[in-house]
Amino acid sequence: MKKDLLRIQDLTKTELLGILDDAQAFASDYQDWQFPERKLIANLFFEPSTRTHYSFASAEHQLNCRVENFTAAGSSVEKGESLYDTVKTFESIGFDAVVIRHKQDEYFKELKNIKIPILNAGDGKGNHPTQCLLDLLTIRQEFGRFEGIKLAVIGDVLHSRVAHSIKEAMLILGGETRFGGPLEWMDDPSQCASVDELVSWGDVVMMLRVQHERHGEKMKMSEAEYLEAYGLTKKRCAMMKPHAIIMHPAPVNRGVEIDSDLVECEKSRIFKQMENGVLVRKAVLKRAFGYSFHEGGKAS
Ligand code: NCD
Repeated sequence: MKKDLLRIQDLTKTELLGILDDAQAFASDYQDWQFPERKLIANLFFEPSTRTHYSFASAEHQLNCRVENFTAAGSSVEKGESLYDTVKTFESIGFDAVVIRHKQDEYFKELKNIKIPILNAGDGKGNHPTQCLLDLLTIRQEFGRFEGIKLAVIGDVLHSRVAHSIKEAMLILGGETRFGGPLEWMDDPSQCASVDELVSWGDVVMMLRVQHERHGEKMKMSEAEYLEAYGLTKKRCAMMKPHAIIMHPAPVNRGVEIDSDLVECEKSRIFKQMENGVLVRKAVLKRAFGYSFHEGGKAS
């Protein structure tokens, strides 16, 4: 049975944990597991991407898929073709699944009639389920649990699909999430905590990029002033708990939301998150086609 992955809150706690278990298994006992039958996958990226796009591609190649990378430039989208007609075309010409990133929030609502699995690689400000799963895998590798874990999310929360998805996940898994950053970039300004307070509170301090391309707002302050007011400076890093870790979905704007020297410091898991991205994308691709690790990898 085909399984889409559209929003993190569409998963039950059991399904969520099952995907993380599969991702972890891809790092050990099942690292060579592949689809018994080759799949043809299209990666449809209507917005820029490095990590998400190419870690999906890496995961697909490792699973023995054939991969086509679509970009809107040079396609019939330039002639005005709709997203639905584009995706329906990929289905009609023999693709087995599509991975989609699009600037429109919940673009997938238009795609209800598509029969092949759709894996959401980010919709506008809405959801980013695979980023969320890799964030969760990173947290679980570190702490072994989610219950009672304190997650501080700091920066441009309002425009961040990463923040919105992890908030939903922590609600399902029993962690606690608090937000901080410029008041005008909070979903709920009344719940905004001070950055100093959050960095000393969190087991995980997740920094977010200022997503200029989503709001076209110029920062009212210089980059150095932003770092001082809302960023993770060395001074703030020293206020973190000894066991606490730094996360960031990247791309990182060094010297804006985080001091450049902290990107690869001992507390940082930023590159570990990217490694984990390939594992969770392998797990969600496997899930999309209902395959099991057992019984010779046959669809369950
Ligand atoms: C994030 C995204 O695209 O939402 N990046 C990512 O997928 N790793 C965050 C961002 O762009 O700042």
